[in-house]
Amino acid sequence: MSDSLTAECERILVVKDPASSAEAIVAVHSTHLGPAHGGIRRWPYESLEAAMADVVALARAMTFKCALAEVPAGGGKAVIVDRPGLDRAAAYRLVGRTVEQLGGTFFTGPDVNTSAEDLRWVAEETRFVATDAADGPGDLAAATSEGVLSALLALAIELDCLPAQMHVVVQGLGAVGMGCAARLAKLGVRISVHDVVADRVAHAVTNYGAVAIDADAVTQTECDVFAPCALGSVLTEDVANNLPARGVCGAANNIFANDTAADQMHRRGVVVVPDFIANAGALIQGALWNLKQERIEPERLARIGATTKEVLSRSRASDRAPITVALELARERLQPEH
Ligand code: NAI
Repeated sequence: MSDSLTAECERILVVKDPASSAEAIVAVHSTHLGPAHGGIRRWPYESLEAAMADVVALARAMTFKCALAEVPAGGGKAVIVDRPGLDRAAAYRLVGRTVEQLGGTFFTGPDVNTSAEDLRWVAEETRFVATDAADGPGDLAAATSEGVLSALLALAIELDCLPAQMHVVVQGLGAVGMGCAARLAKLGVRISVHDVVADRVAHAVTNYGAVAIDADAVTQTECDVFAPCALGSVLTEDVANNLPARGVCGAANNIFANDTAADQMHRRGVVVVPDFIANAGALIQGALWNLKQERIEPERLARIGATTKEVLSRSRASDRAPITVALELARERLQPEH
């Protein structure tokens, strides 16, 4: 699988910094629709082969995400092999030099374990990186919250549910989840929330009228929509079989813990909005800034709702899981004539 994905990529650069021994891989999967976009992940991979398998899969996922978000961009990704004693500055500068070498065919930014400080090291070596600088693309997490809301409202229509009658369980009240809770509360949606940080829960209870629930209740509370905004892999086999929700729509990446959970949930009639459609707000805002220095209007993010609607109606008509339909739609948009 990873061999064929490797072959699909337009460019793969495996790089090493001799002074520090830091190792990284930068993969450009596709520039068919425009320059590749993808963040930098730092992870303790067991081997360079494991890092390679991850980077090519993540880069391809970005190609699909861009196609569905209708941005003139393609998929890429960078990974750093994390090790005890890693010289982080050297590792991120190495990625920066590699990105610069790609001459604007790849733009990068944050991903798992990459902080704003790390990105400043990258920015010392390349222009093609989104940092939190004042002249940057703006509040990307807010764009993600706005996009999740747009997808969630399209899901509500599919479920025949008005916002004022809706109950949403939000897991994770970080930058994105809190933004979602605020926006849902404004529409009169009833929300139940959980976060491992008590202050964040208290903030949502006080400001948005949320009900606090404990960790176990997150996937056991009857609701219209479960909104995972914390971690990936939340839809395990057990959750897929038992989640008492009619739909799922949130920001967390890679929500399915295994390959069968999507079909299991579809068979149970639980409508799951693909995460890479719902959480594309930051990509849209960041890519349009990188490529056109364009500050997007909120309406641009509403297209996430339109794509969600198209995918859910195709899913219903063909009786296939939304994620299957979404990948098909992405492939259509990637056809040469498109
Ligand atoms: P964040 O780090 O600001 O917030 C995550 C929140 O989840 C924190 O409040 C944390 O305490 C909480 N949390 C961690 N473990 C938990 C658990 N077991 N139960 C309940 N809460 C838990 O992250 P952010 O930026 O809000 O992102 C949320 C998710 O959305 C992540 O999975 C991220 O990969 C994804 N995402 C974020 C984007 C963005 O623009 N920030 C874009 C696309 C995806």
